[in-house]
Amino acid sequence: MLKTYFRTGAAVALLISGAALARAESLTLYCSADEAWCQQIKTTFEAETGITVDMTRKSSGETYAQVRAEASNPKGDVWWGGTGDPHLQAAEEGLTDEYLSPMRDELHDWAIRQAEAAGNKTIGVYSGALGFGYNKDLLAKNNMPEPKCWADLTKPEYKGQIQMANPNSSGTAYTMLATIVQLMGEEQGFEYMKALHKNINQYTKSGSAPIKAAGLGETTIGIVFMHDAVSQSAAGFPVVTVAPCEGTGYEIGSMSLIKGARNPEEAKKFYDWALTADMQSRAKDVNSFQLPSNKAAEASPLSPDLSTIKLIDYDFKKHGSSDERKRLLQKWDAEVSTLPQ
Ligand code: F6P
Repeated sequence: MLKTYFRTGAAVALLISGAALARAESLTLYCSADEAWCQQIKTTFEAETGITVDMTRKSSGETYAQVRAEASNPKGDVWWGGTGDPHLQAAEEGLTDEYLSPMRDELHDWAIRQAEAAGNKTIGVYSGALGFGYNKDLLAKNNMPEPKCWADLTKPEYKGQIQMANPNSSGTAYTMLATIVQLMGEEQGFEYMKALHKNINQYTKSGSAPIKAAGLGETTIGIVFMHDAVSQSAAGFPVVTVAPCEGTGYEIGSMSLIKGARNPEEAKKFYDWALTADMQSRAKDVNSFQLPSNKAAEASPLSPDLSTIKLIDYDFKKHGSSDERKRLLQKWDAEVSTLPQ
């Protein structure tokens, strides 16, 4: 009896240690879109594949800096979402891996162009235009005119009324800086950023924070991607979305495989999955209104229609290059952010 007991116990112990040895599938995901979408992606991917996801949400510029800082001992496997410029910079600096997904045929040309610009070390997952939004109740209460153009935002009546993110941490704010430089030329563009600085009440870390603050009545105007302003009105806040009259830039939200990843197979599974129509169609369920890169994915009717917005021919290759991004950010740090308000 005692002998049987010990024999069974040993067999169980053997089974348990065997199971522990068979590595549980896991993935470390760096996510740079909205928190709710990042959470949805984590839980859906886990439920559909059984792979455990350790997800961290950080802004685009911050994630780029983290991937770079960890390059000699990478901790992340996939970087999903966030503006394309820092993904392009990471590709140029050899921080991400080339991959040709079998899903590429299902994608819009703009998503593939993004990949090709980076030797296939990144790919487009969504797109969206830059603009701003304002709290219409606050605007009316303070008798302020409706802002329609980039030029309006430097007017003295908006002093202390505008919020935007810091372009070092935020891809949204970097897109804005690069857009202004492309629209107005560098010299005039920086004069504009200096004039705008006088009206800024806070530079936030995350790109969508300014319009969340506008929704809550903590600032009147937020410079953000238009889809982030739409998220606020869809959630019931008194926010109006504006496509600036002079024209505007846009993002190609991107995804990259981190070089030296600890879980490369799971990372590729995630990458292919993140390009499916099903996965991308679910964004609207969490009020994320970017345009999906899979041609068959269903966008929300609330997603801003890029064909009706005056878009500039944003030069992603130039503004996502390591030299240009570093140069523009250093110049903004030295010439704009240090100015008194
Ligand atoms: O919230 C969504 C979003 O605006 C994305 O469209 C964009 O890629 C990302 O956030 C940029 O975030 P951040 O400006 O914080 O880097």
